[in-house]
Amino acid sequence: MNEKEIIETENKLMANVFAKRPVVITRGKGALVWDINGKEYVDCTSSYGVALLGHSHPKVVEAVCKQAERLISCHAGFYNDMRVEFLQKLVHITPKGLDKAFLSNSGAEAVECAIKLARKFTGKPEIIAMMGAFHGKTMGALSATWDKKYREPFQPLVPEFKHVAPDNLEKVREAISDKTAAVLLEPIRGEGGVRIPPDGFLQGLREICDEKNVLLMFDEVQTSFGRTGKLFACEHWGVTPDVMCLAKPFAGGLPIGITVARENVMSAFKVGDHSTTFSGSPLVCAAGCAAIDTLVKEKLWKQAAVKGKYFKNKLEQLQGKHKVIKEVRGLGLMIGVELRYDVLNVILKALDRGVLTLDAGRNVLRFLPPLVIEKEQIDKVISVLDEVLEEEENARSSGTPTD
Ligand SMILES: Cc1ncc(COP(=O)(O)O)c(C=O)c1O
Repeated sequence: MNEKEIIETENKLMANVFAKRPVVITRGKGALVWDINGKEYVDCTSSYGVALLGHSHPKVVEAVCKQAERLISCHAGFYNDMRVEFLQKLVHITPKGLDKAFLSNSGAEAVECAIKLARKFTGKPEIIAMMGAFHGKTMGALSATWDKKYREPFQPLVPEFKHVAPDNLEKVREAISDKTAAVLLEPIRGEGGVRIPPDGFLQGLREICDEKNVLLMFDEVQTSFGRTGKLFACEHWGVTPDVMCLAKPFAGGLPIGITVARENVMSAFKVGDHSTTFSGSPLVCAAGCAAIDTLVKEKLWKQAAVKGKYFKNKLEQLQGKHKVIKEVRGLGLMIGVELRYDVLNVILKALDRGVLTLDAGRNVLRFLPPLVIEKEQIDKVISVLDEVLEEEENARSSGTPTD
């Protein structure tokens, strides 16, 4: 099929729920992907935060091929060697004390499990989440997600969810009641615009949760695996939650969700309380082992810290030149650039020039490149962004429509 036929057929056969970019990606290596016509792109999306090791990392490819020959599926009702190996590697890197996990297939599922676990462990129903939060789109996760455009068409959602203003300890304290099981939040809000909490906030939250006997649950689906310059974002503030949700990059690109908790918390789950058919499949676990090994061996979080600093610096230089840039913020290679107008045109024009970027709300450009992105590739992103912003500003000042 050619490009046009693929686009038409996918639009016809697949539910129309994704904001599609008009490009057919067929190949990837490191931080680069190529479309069906052989055009190259620097991928600052990592497939929405998945390909942190780079696309088709050779260690992951090798592990998947080897395991596929041996055993692909094995229900968690039976024991499996790859699953154990993966769990050991996982709890070796998770913050101390988080050492019992449930494995699933996506970020939303990791959050669903956390919600059920909080209710089971505490015997209480209420979950406090943050305004601006994104936790996924299944019914439980959606109930914790903030944006009404995702929530409203699907009401009634799961009851007993409360949203409070973010970064405000007093609001959380006021919101906690006798019914509260847990406070759930992203340490750095991703979809909500790449928002970093003020120093002291997460520490304060930990204290409040301890004082009130409420679980603290971090959704690190987007911020973990070295993305922000530490293995887990919570390490920037030295705060360990009781439950942590992980997903996206942990199986080197294969679907995975992980809910990891303190042993006594996870032990609240009894046989039958929670499950999914694909929990800890050998194939995914083999990929996960290769992914964690590579992350640790190459100390990719350190690369994220160094490259992120370089990237952010360059973006700040652009801010000096383009008044349309309101703010540059981020940690490691999780970077948001807030513009004074809608970012969609900028995203489409950058795509045209060989750079893939994401949005995070209407006004924020989000950069989530693979941690293996090279300096020259960052330079290309910067020069494309420079050109695109210049063009946009010229078009706006001359009154020419830009879309
Ligand atoms: C913080 C966070 N939580 C949960 C999710 C949902 O993950 P998934 O799309 O794998 O269900 C996402 C997805 O972007 C996310 O960023």
